[in-house]
Amino acid sequence: MRVLVAEDNRFFRLLVEASLKKWGHEVVGCEDGSQAWDLLVQEDPPRVALLDWEMPKLEGVEICRRLRALKNRPYLGDLETLRRLALAAECKDDETGAHMVRTGALSALLAEKLGLGEQFTSNMFHAAPTHDLGKIGIPDGILLKRGPLTQVEVDIMKRHTLIGAKILDGSAATVLRLARTIALTHHERWDGNGYPSGLARTEIPLAGRIVALIDAFDAMTSNRPYRRALTVERTCKIIREESAKQFDPHLVNVFLTHVNVFLEMRERMNKELPASAHCPPCLCDVLDAKRSAQGSSMTEPASFLAGEK
Ligand SMILES: [Fe+2]
Ligand SMILES: [Fe+2]
Repeated sequence: MRVLVAEDNRFFRLLVEASLKKWGHEVVGCEDGSQAWDLLVQEDPPRVALLDWEMPKLEGVEICRRLRALKNRPYLGDLETLRRLALAAECKDDETGAHMVRTGALSALLAEKLGLGEQFTSNMFHAAPTHDLGKIGIPDGILLKRGPLTQVEVDIMKRHTLIGAKILDGSAATVLRLARTIALTHHERWDGNGYPSGLARTEIPLAGRIVALIDAFDAMTSNRPYRRALTVERTCKIIREESAKQFDPHLVNVFLTHVNVFLEMRERMNKELPASAHCPPCLCDVLDAKRSAQGSSMTEPASFLAGEK
């Protein structure tokens, strides 16, 4: 293992270095804090750092403080990983791209309206787009099926939450951990009837509750293969009706209070993003869920919507 030893006292540094080398470690020695800092923020830093508390130029305790702050801030590499994963999901069905980007931006906007702070808001922007990453593991015959899903197929489709969480599992990076939480919990419901774990109310992580609402909003206001986008009035009515059922009532209140800002942002993004013909179903949309339960045909837009008054 590569170990960094930062110690301004040469004698102590050589002593520690000799012991570590005897144990088979590769040692990088530094005589001041600023040298140590440069090595720790390079692309391939040593795995372990032994830092003297007091050192010239930069104290060991200050290096620790800075490293902790850095750990909570997404590295460019983490953001790139998320972007590439989102692209991979998009390759599975290239029409979801605009939906993923909008979900990130609108989730960040809701986080901001909730007063959740700049860091969390920024992380939501980057982490929410991979909420449906697990669809990569769903067979095309089910994911792209135009007819109604059988119960067995619905159960397989629900596994996209677990698959997404598995892909994102085990990272130390805050933004990737948040992405995992979202992938796993964005289909949980406030009333406990969601999946995969049937969590209820605040048992569901806040990020999952935010994306559940935004995902449904974006899906309802998008064209589907079997129906046109719902009107804003209709979408808001359904969201209000689902308050404290599918959605966290506090989030619904905040969302509806600022709904014009959300619509404005959605409109602006649609002008800037490549056209998205439709958003394929992932059972997240209130209507899709009801529709699956009813087993209605995916080729009858008008009759389905007529029954939804
Ligand atoms: Fe989903
Ligand atoms: Fe979605």
